[in-house]
Amino acid sequence: MSERYFVEIMRIFKSSPDRELSGEELASQFGITRTGLWKKIKKLEELGYVFDKKPKYGYRLILVPDLLHPVEILSDLKTSWFGKHYFYYEEIDSTNTEAMRLALKESPEGTVVVAESQTAGRGRLGRKWLSPPKKGLYFSFVLRPPIGPREAPQLTLLTALALVDTLRELYQIPVMIKWPNDLVVEGKKIAGILAEAHMEPQKLRFVIIGVGINVFHNQNDFIGEFRYPPTSLLIELHDRNITIRRQDILVNFGNIFEEFYENFLTSGWQPWIEKLRETSILLGKFVTVNTGREKISGIAADFSPTGGLILQLPSGGFQEIWIGDVEQVTWK
Ligand code: BTN
Repeated sequence: MSERYFVEIMRIFKSSPDRELSGEELASQFGITRTGLWKKIKKLEELGYVFDKKPKYGYRLILVPDLLHPVEILSDLKTSWFGKHYFYYEEIDSTNTEAMRLALKESPEGTVVVAESQTAGRGRLGRKWLSPPKKGLYFSFVLRPPIGPREAPQLTLLTALALVDTLRELYQIPVMIKWPNDLVVEGKKIAGILAEAHMEPQKLRFVIIGVGINVFHNQNDFIGEFRYPPTSLLIELHDRNITIRRQDILVNFGNIFEEFYENFLTSGWQPWIEKLRETSILLGKFVTVNTGREKISGIAADFSPTGGLILQLPSGGFQEIWIGDVEQVTWK
């Protein structure tokens, strides 16, 4: 029985959460014997699912584990292309590197790579991304947008906007965007985005978007030096009675991102600027941006129609920055 059937079985259980499903009916639906079905249920139990089993009535799903396994993710996703090609690893060097390898072999748009841990997780500007097993959500996906290289940075912002909606909807926390690729909660970094474009002369062939979210980290899991004080969902939600599950985040993100991206492809970036303004932590603050070539300081005045950051310089003039890393923010 291939993975597709496990996904289908799980879909059926999830659509009837409060009642027993007859073993006989399920077995005949999939053209297998009752013993065959029992074996499949046993496999699902090995993955961590818990069923209430009553000989007369059948099976009832009573516990869904925190699982990024395809059976769990694919039975919840409501997308038409995001995650339809789904690669799941216990451990990998970097999900971005793997997504790049797959994209070079023509993996389609929406291909998703997820790992429980990364041995060489990468952040922006050559930094490392701490990726201890099962603490965070580490995933990457392939996009093949018909846009020019200059518009590619808008995909980072679109991802950030989808993440903000995902985390606010699920956990009601005040997540904000620190342009262009950080998500922060009250000044502490909770997630980062690493976008890597693959170019052909003058043309964007594909873009890999990598997302790292600190989920179950305790304060002492954050070993090393950090540009911004890090935080996690667990730390932020410690006094609330909320169950945090990484699959909820991935599935909700996928559903939201697919819709955002399709709108973006039809209507462009312009409609998103207001949302970026509303969710940006930088506007009105005095910041220093490292563009790789120079450091520029000024007041973050606005975002340009293309997604760049407009700084008001101490001289009074304005400068637009396309790509950069905000190193310092004066929060007052
Ligand atoms: C940053 O804030 O500098 C970006 C961090 C991006 C980390 C994610 S984790 C999943 C994906 N794989 C990687 O190697 N990096 C990204």
